[in-house]
Amino acid sequence: MSLTAETRTDAATGAAESPWWRQAAVYQIYPRSFADSDGDGIGDIRGVTSRADYLAELGVDAVWLSPFYPSELADGGYDVADYRDVDPRLGTLDDFDEMLAALHARGIRVVVDIVPNHTSDQHAWFQEALAAGRGSAARERYIFREGRGEDGAEPPADWESVFGGPAWERVADGQWYFHNFAKEQPDLNWDNPEVRADFVKTLRFWADRGVDGFRIDVAHMLTKDLTEPLPSRAELDALPFDGNHPLIDRDDVHDIYAEWRRVFDEYDPPRSAVAEAWVDSSRVPLYARPESLGQAFNFDLLQADFDAAEFRRIVTDNLTLAAASRSSSTWVLSNHDVVRHATRYGLPPLGREHRGRGAEKQGAAWLRAGGPESALDREGGVRRAVAASMFLLALPGSAYIYQGEELGLHEVADIGAGERQDPTFFRTEGEEVGRDGCRVPLPWQSEGSSFGFGADGAHLPQPEWFGSFAVDAQAGRSGSVLELYRRALRLRHELQTDEQLEWIETGRDDVLHFRRPNGWEVVTNFGTEPYPLDRSIVVLSSAGDAAGTVPGESTVWLHTSAQG
Ligand code: GLC
Repeated sequence: MSLTAETRTDAATGAAESPWWRQAAVYQIYPRSFADSDGDGIGDIRGVTSRADYLAELGVDAVWLSPFYPSELADGGYDVADYRDVDPRLGTLDDFDEMLAALHARGIRVVVDIVPNHTSDQHAWFQEALAAGRGSAARERYIFREGRGEDGAEPPADWESVFGGPAWERVADGQWYFHNFAKEQPDLNWDNPEVRADFVKTLRFWADRGVDGFRIDVAHMLTKDLTEPLPSRAELDALPFDGNHPLIDRDDVHDIYAEWRRVFDEYDPPRSAVAEAWVDSSRVPLYARPESLGQAFNFDLLQADFDAAEFRRIVTDNLTLAAASRSSSTWVLSNHDVVRHATRYGLPPLGREHRGRGAEKQGAAWLRAGGPESALDREGGVRRAVAASMFLLALPGSAYIYQGEELGLHEVADIGAGERQDPTFFRTEGEEVGRDGCRVPLPWQSEGSSFGFGADGAHLPQPEWFGSFAVDAQAGRSGSVLELYRRALRLRHELQTDEQLEWIETGRDDVLHFRRPNGWEVVTNFGTEPYPLDRSIVVLSSAGDAAGTVPGESTVWLHTSAQG
């Protein structure tokens, strides 16, 4: 079977012309935890600039920065108080321009995060809405309602927020507002033309500065049908996600993206966008169409076990879906919302049962199982993670790498309650530990203050073992995870010349083998028994010296022209 994703052809010359993002390796930076240039314990924009050479040496094509905008940090920056500025703790717009220039000078594109579903409650609009009172135009930008019951003391509906707890919050004058996430993140009213116009202004603001693309946060939640009477939570839960659900994945959200697409296409080259849309796979192509955002995250691998059959099905399905939308697929194993994949793959079975959308639940299950050190197979987790990553980096489409995964970094589980920051932890009263464990500041040096993250401490505690994963402990050391990523990312530029993949049958349930038409082949052994190769020249192996086999839990890259 051969699967093809579209590469556009230039009508005049017939030459294949592929937009940069279709097969880009994109490195996700969580700015507050990447590198701290001023020693306040919080990573910043200048910190990113100071590591531009590191990113270039790693060999990534683009970076995606999670929000760096002014924020009260009720949700790690996804509560934005001003969409067109930099948080003073992270720097200034001048710092941003400098960073952009430094990355562009090294051939690295820059993608920023747009959070359109909600603002921070500190945003000028929300403050104005509180002050202006019921019935005002300012309240119309959000979703305000009267409560139920005689004195309106009951919320308009019994809905629950994504982070746990009620989804409606009462304000001083007695009205209620709707928030899908934390109460500090009031949802915007996307029926309001002013809201629509303001986001176009924000997109232009960053595109005009030279930003190459956008990652659209919870792209499937913006539009709502809140016609009275509002359904109950039970009624809501029983409704299908067919494009008409009152809150999720509504067809009318694409009117917004059609307008944005026109804006993106005014630029040369057109600005790219990728949707974060946790929707049924059958509906992902709607977001990935060229008329909509152009690309969408596929989170299937991130939710899968380290399992050959699961991986093969996911790859086949997603290449088909991407082709159907005339986009390319995206591949992700880790991000700032889930337990790092080295840890997921090292968890005992108890933990592995708790994966999926609430992958952070794994952390809780893991803690309850007796603590990280006793329950986690650290080495096995990294071995499997690296094998999976090398498989992913060779797939057609764009690959997303979350900061620290190139070090084989594990989740940090033992963060004290007093040091936790994620609203999930607080809103579930600790029942779910939340996402802080994958957001701990990176170790750059094996010793010294905050392992080289900054001059004076880190905003989340780094454990002792972080030192052994540090960049300086791995750089230049053959066989290290970092050097493997560097090599793979360099070779990837030769490998990603087409968007096709053909499976080769291996006769083993636990071994996958695929070929790209340009001669590259990839074999991943998900089992523990070595898999013999019928040729001897291996270009890259996640297990070091492969000696004519693919060792258990490893990936090799082969090239036919390199055959002995
Ligand atoms: C997305 C982000 C997540 C954030 C949420 C609300 O899922 O990835 O970090 O908490 O949106 O903005």
